[in-house]
Order: sequence, then structure tokens, then C-alpha cells
Amino acid sequence: MSLLIDGKKLAAEVRSEVKYEVEVILKQGKPAPGLNLLLVGSDPASEIYVRYKSKDCEQVGIVSTIVRLPDTASEEEVVAIVNLWNEDRKVDGILVQLPLPKQINEQRVLQSINPLKDVDGFHPVNVGKLVIGLPGFVPCTPAGVVEMLRRYDIPTSGKHVVIVGRSNIVGKPLAMLLAQKKLPGNSTVAICHSATEDLESYTKRADILIAAVGSRHLITSKHVKTGAVVIDVGINRYEKPDGTFGLTGDVDFEDVYEKVSAITPVPGGVGPMTRALLLKNTLLAASGVFT
Ligand code: GUN
Repeated sequence: MSLLIDGKKLAAEVRSEVKYEVEVILKQGKPAPGLNLLLVGSDPASEIYVRYKSKDCEQVGIVSTIVRLPDTASEEEVVAIVNLWNEDRKVDGILVQLPLPKQINEQRVLQSINPLKDVDGFHPVNVGKLVIGLPGFVPCTPAGVVEMLRRYDIPTSGKHVVIVGRSNIVGKPLAMLLAQKKLPGNSTVAICHSATEDLESYTKRADILIAAVGSRHLITSKHVKTGAVVIDVGINRYEKPDGTFGLTGDVDFEDVYEKVSAITPVPGGVGPMTRALLLKNTLLAASGVFT
């Protein structure tokens, strides 16, 4: 029997821990942590994500504010809002939902965020801190994946981790986290991507296989070693035969389930943990631990 890694259950645990910490802050007479979210344009997925993030905040006592700008917004308008929030003491965390419309330089916007309020961990200062092992904000999805491994006592030290996907949001930071010389980590990490020749020869050697490419069912049983742990970061929308839409991962769950020792479902796996770790990062921002 393969173990189903329950992201919903773990996320509920993280949320209740954050809620408790927020209560402690309030009892000390301090203001509730505040997260400001900027949504530019009308991407339907982004709209849903931002709404979920705000709802999560409410549940744990974090004050959230969503500001929306139209598709036509300029880079200057976006940066101006970020600068206002950088100076606002009530704003502990700043999140600019990605992707941004084409006319806006994503890197310029991300680099305008005060690194001490960068709860996404995308600012080069936080990326650099992660690479050299200094405390800083870690992007929510990689932090969530590592937290899943830790809470399920899945050993990582000396293990062969193969990550499929080299994005700045998931693949690269996750590789850094798992390769660092502390637990959970201390793994031997390979990053595979769209130019990898003979993908299967790498993935088949993985003790822990992490798929983060956004390609429906790219990973099948021929890619996995018997007894491997599989973490599926993909969230792909697909049309069902009846015309409705469903969500599925980068891994063909049915095909690999019997072969693996543990696996995350989609939905209900990594997604809820990403959301929970944003709350944790906001709490860290309010606590000023990285100053
Ligand atoms: N778009 C997809 N994932 C993310 C994320 O983790 N943070 C932000 N800001 N935008 C995203």
C-alpha cells in the first residue's frame, strides 16, 4: 500500500499553529500581522488564488488587503503601489500575484519589494540568502514541499532527489533547500528540464521525485523507481469528457500509485501547503525575524 501524503491535513496543522501565534501577538497588545496582495489584470486562475490567500488570512487572524489594477496598468503604477506598501508600517507582507501583464517587467516589480516584506521570497536578496544558507524568506511552494517531507518523517539525508522543472518559483529554490547541509536537506539533487536528454534515466534513479513543470501526466510509471516518494507540484486544468473541467498534476497518479511508497495527490497535496506557508511567512515578516 502506498502512502497518500495529505496536504490538506498538514496545511490545517500549519494554519492552527499560525493562528495560535497570531493570538499570542494580539495578547501582547501588538497589531495583527498584515498582508497586502496586488492583483494586476483578470487572469481567472490568479483571481482564484488571490481570493483563497485572502480567505486563509482571515481564518488565522491576519489582516489582508487586496488591491486590483486593470490589465492595462503600467509598470510605474505597480511599482508606486509597492513603494507605498514598503513604507506602510501596517503592511508586514507584500505579494504581487504573478504572472503580470506583458508590458510589465516582472523582475523590476519583484525587486521593488522591500526584502523584509517579501513573503514570496522572490527578491534577489532572499534568493541569495537561500543559496548561501542565511535566514530569509523561502518561496512558499518549496517551503511547503520541504515541510511535507519533514512532517511525514521522509528521510532526505544522502537521498537522491530529482526535480523536474527549473522555475524560479519552485525548481531552483527547492533544489537549493534540499541540497543545503541541514535537515530536511543534505540530499543529492538533480534538476531536469525541457532540454534534458533521456529524462527517464534520471527520474528512475530518484528516491524522491519532484515534478514541477506544468505538463499534465508527464511522469508515468516508467519514470519512477519502485518505492520512490513522489511529490507532484503540477496543477493542470483539463476538460473532462462531460465538458466540465478538472485539476490534475504532472504525474499520472493512477499509473504510478502502486509502484511508489508515498505520493501527493492533486488537488489536496502541495497546493494547500503553499497557501499555508504564505501565512507562516507573513507571521515571520510581522515578527521581524530577518531584520
Ligand atoms: N503565481 C503562481 N504562483 C505564485 C506564487 O507563489 N506567488 C505569486 N506571487 N504569484 C504566483
